[in-house]
Amino acid sequence: MARAKTQFVCQNCGTTHARWAGKCDGCGEWNTIIEDDPAGGIGSGPGKPLRKGKPVTLTTLSGDIEDAPRIHTGIEELDRATGGGFVRGSALLVGGDPGIGKSTLLMQAAAALSRRSHRVVYVSGEEAVAQIRLRAQRLGAADTDVLLAAETNVEDILATLSQGKRPDLIIIDSIQTLWSDAADSAPGTVTQVRTGAQAMIRFAKQTGAAVVLVGHVTKEGQIAGPRVVEHMVDAVLYFEGDRGHHYRILRAVKNRFGPTDEIGVFEMSDVGLREVSNPSELFLGERNEKAPGACVFAGIEGTRPILVEVQALVAASSLGTPRRAVVGWDSARLSMILAVLEAHCGIRLGQHDVYLNVAGGYRISEPAADMAVASALVSSLAGLALPADCVYFGEISLSGAVRPVAHTGQRLKEAEKLGFARAVFPAGSADLPKKSSGSWNTVDALHDLVVGIAGSKAKSAPDEEE
Ligand code: TYD
Ligand code: MG
Repeated sequence: MARAKTQFVCQNCGTTHARWAGKCDGCGEWNTIIEDDPAGGIGSGPGKPLRKGKPVTLTTLSGDIEDAPRIHTGIEELDRATGGGFVRGSALLVGGDPGIGKSTLLMQAAAALSRRSHRVVYVSGEEAVAQIRLRAQRLGAADTDVLLAAETNVEDILATLSQGKRPDLIIIDSIQTLWSDAADSAPGTVTQVRTGAQAMIRFAKQTGAAVVLVGHVTKEGQIAGPRVVEHMVDAVLYFEGDRGHHYRILRAVKNRFGPTDEIGVFEMSDVGLREVSNPSELFLGERNEKAPGACVFAGIEGTRPILVEVQALVAASSLGTPRRAVVGWDSARLSMILAVLEAHCGIRLGQHDVYLNVAGGYRISEPAADMAVASALVSSLAGLALPADCVYFGEISLSGAVRPVAHTGQRLKEAEKLGFARAVFPAGSADLPKKSSGSWNTVDALHDLVVGIAGSKAKSAPDEEE
């Protein structure tokens, strides 16, 4: 008999490898590959014999849809991130680091829906019923009709859900605790997580209930991460935030029924998550206006403008290779800005440590932040504070030119609303607001921006340090 071949599966992304390796080629994560027996996959459990398929009825695109397809929770920020509420018959994955607040958010959503007389079932495999009740009390949700179960077996969960009236929303907390009789590997492995998720997704499609799957992001080790089911679900939301801060951001990364650039902003309090309808005020809350190196960026997330402070610190380095540390932004993008500053503006930072931080634990993904970052860097290097009532935005190209970005009007309006009277952005920007009391400065190239901030000091500053 031929020896059964083993395979190696990445627990982060599910890529299979012929041999073990420290790093997964698929996702680049380290120490996530474990040995897996391919014979122990789906359908290898105490199984039924293979049956012959039976034909299904083909149908048309038009036809009756039972209910309104969306269920609004009334929690604005959550509805915004999902694109208008949970979709019936769909599966939604909510991923995030352990302890970030996924269970809290979903318990609040469950309570809100239950108050709107929807039938909600909350299945927890992580916590005991008493623990969940305690949390519900803390969140003021204990008086709602949310149905609760502490269960991890997929078949038992499905049998329970099939009884009685169909639920409108089912929350499974979390997919890593699910295990199915149909697969014989340990709970938490890629096979089990996928089998469990698949069963829940099938249930959603068949019954028209909305299913929310919670998935912990796992940094390393033996537990499969939420990425292994991303391709199977209809929408993926990630709940992010910095443990040191209270802000939490719900970000859509995939959505078959809505936009993927929307975010929902929350604040963690002692009585659960609070919606933040004006994030700019929050992110600008602790500003020190006179400090060099701080710059306010006028950004856009989806349809919503967000003002946030970008902080830079440029200091002479004692190291052979100066340090570059970035929090909240792309470090490759920072290297690019530093290179452009050096090549086109004569600002040499090769002897300087550069630290960049986005205030409030927020993460910027827009290239429009380039100009704000460059301004913060120049301001810190020159030791000159930027005007306190000025915002910056615009993309920088490798040639040292600046490029207009979308939604200029919206950015300027938000800035004005929050008391910023000035703005610096690329020349040629479209849709400027018609009536406005602000003073808008446009620049043609990065060099103009640098001269505007530091004057002639920009050129001499690096030499002074030498
Ligand atoms: P939780 O929802 O259990 O996180 P997850 O399900 O993502 O693992 O939230 C855990 C954290 O939130 C915990 O550190 C305590 C904090 N928390 C509050 O600050 N206020 C609250 O009202 C609740 C319920 C939790
Ligand atoms: Mg939890």
